[in-house]
Amino acid sequence: MSLMERVDFAIKISRKAGKILLSEWGNPANISEKSSFQDLLTNMDKKSQSIIVEAIREKFPEDGVLAEEGIDERKSKMWVIDPIDGTVNYAFGLPSFSVSIAYVEDDQPKLGVIHLPVIDETYYAVHGSGAYMDGVRIKVSSRDELRKTVGLMGFFRGFTGKFISEMEDKVIRIRMLGSIAAGAAYIAAGRADFYVAKRANPWDVAAAVLILKEAGGRVTDIEGKEVGIYSKSYVFSNGKIHGELLKHIKDII
Ligand code: IPD
Ligand code: CA
Ligand code: CA
Repeated sequence: MSLMERVDFAIKISRKAGKILLSEWGNPANISEKSSFQDLLTNMDKKSQSIIVEAIREKFPEDGVLAEEGIDERKSKMWVIDPIDGTVNYAFGLPSFSVSIAYVEDDQPKLGVIHLPVIDETYYAVHGSGAYMDGVRIKVSSRDELRKTVGLMGFFRGFTGKFISEMEDKVIRIRMLGSIAAGAAYIAAGRADFYVAKRANPWDVAAAVLILKEAGGRVTDIEGKEVGIYSKSYVFSNGKIHGELLKHIKDII
């Protein structure tokens, strides 16, 4: 099956999962703690994952699956899934959460889909074919100085405070959205200019990296090195302010 057919499948299944997620948004039947009190899991993370994984197993029984909630069946051809990116937002009823699905060959993302159920937007890309949101081609912003930018970041103990202090007189704003995938999709669409993530997992970033690159953006780790899906730290940007941004990050790490 072609990558175009695969991306259509991934878009459909992300939307199906998103629709079901909306039924318990802000009020999931069960919320528990995973690794710590700051790391939440809901019954709907598992529900969304099983909808997506069952559909993949039916359609692509040969493919591997790496999914956040306990599936690690890695293969050279595999799907990498975050059934809810932004579980804290989801559990609290905040709108910034997403479903992220990527198809990867030899650890290289070939297609990526990020669906935001509340605002009903679906971002996607196929390697070499550009990035889209609901059928419309998207590209990163052209803002070329930090002082013109809005940046996004995650909540990383020991880093976020330092980074905000470093940047507070250099950018218009720093925002914390609570979903790496949603944040990277916004950078791809030019709605913000960079996103800094200190600790990320493959399911947070596999779709995001491809969509951002296909939208003309740049992604490295926080030291400026090329990234793969297992890199941990990520700086997503419009490319124009990437070097300037890395210099400021260097000063605080
Ligand atoms: C988290 C979100 C959050 C980021 C964390 C991720 P989850 O994913 O993307 O914004 O700061 O690093 O783990 O746990 O909601 O899937
Ligand atoms: Ca995640
Ligand atoms: Ca998740």
